Amino acid sequence: MPTSAADPLLAVRGLSTGYGKINVLSGIDLTVGAGEIVALLGPNGAGKSTLLKAISGLLPRTGTIHFGGKDMSRGDPRDAVNAGLVHVVEGHRVFTQLSVTDNLMLAGYGMSAAERTRRVEEALGYFPEIAAKRNDKAVTLSGGQQQMLAVAQGLVRRPRLLMLDEPSAGLSPVLVDRVLTTAAQLREAGTSVLLVEQLIDKALKLADRVYALARGSIVLEANTKEPDLHNRLERAYFG
Ligand SMILES: Nc1ncnc2c1ncn2[C@@H]1O[C@H](COP(=O)(O)OP(=O)(O)O)[C@@H](O)[C@H]1O
Ligand SMILES: [Mg+2]
Repeated sequence: MPTSAADPLLAVRGLSTGYGKINVLSGIDLTVGAGEIVALLGPNGAGKSTLLKAISGLLPRTGTIHFGGKDMSRGDPRDAVNAGLVHVVEGHRVFTQLSVTDNLMLAGYGMSAAERTRRVEEALGYFPEIAAKRNDKAVTLSGGQQQMLAVAQGLVRRPRLLMLDEPSAGLSPVLVDRVLTTAAQLREAGTSVLLVEQLIDKALKLADRVYALARGSIVLEANTKEPDLHNRLERAYFG
């Protein structure tokens, strides 16, 4: 079934997941529209990373996941990536002993050499800071630059939806803005972003809509234009 304007790009319904016998999330409903930035907020341990892992197929889950009009409820991480659903996991994991370019080339597995090269250049176009260090080992990059590299690896797949798990963790304020600006640029290009972020004000400024997760459930869903959102969020977290 093709996606019509009314259908969200990602539609999660009644999702439950956890680790082994430990249930973490129950009955999660969440949507992301085409070209939309959606923030996913919540206190530490609320299950934000768990939700992203369940959506991308890194964790077993029940419920349904539709992406681009296709039923991906039983898909694995490779199915997700191939469909254009790309997850940049927490903690900027890059191959420190490989060069910037080689890290990006690896992200282009399965593509022709020419296509990989094209995609790597495209991804580097978002981050002049690391393009200038393309031949250096990733270990020589700053934490912020490694985070940019992790995001760039995701971009090599030309995602329709990019899920970013705390891309700003551990970064200086300037670098936080730099990394978050990329999300806005992606939206301009028609890419959707699902952003997990601890910096509530920055997330609300950037995103179109917001979900808050607490105690294993979605406790708030709102348009970021709605008034008094910061206070409502804090009440929802602790309520
Ligand atoms: N690998 C794991 N095994 C067991 N429990 C886990 C694992 N990872 C996370 N958890 C638990 O799942 C819950 C949600 O964690 P997480 O999704 O990382 O929260 P958040 O990203 O919102 O901080 C927490 O109670 C955490 O202890
Ligand atoms: Mg997390």
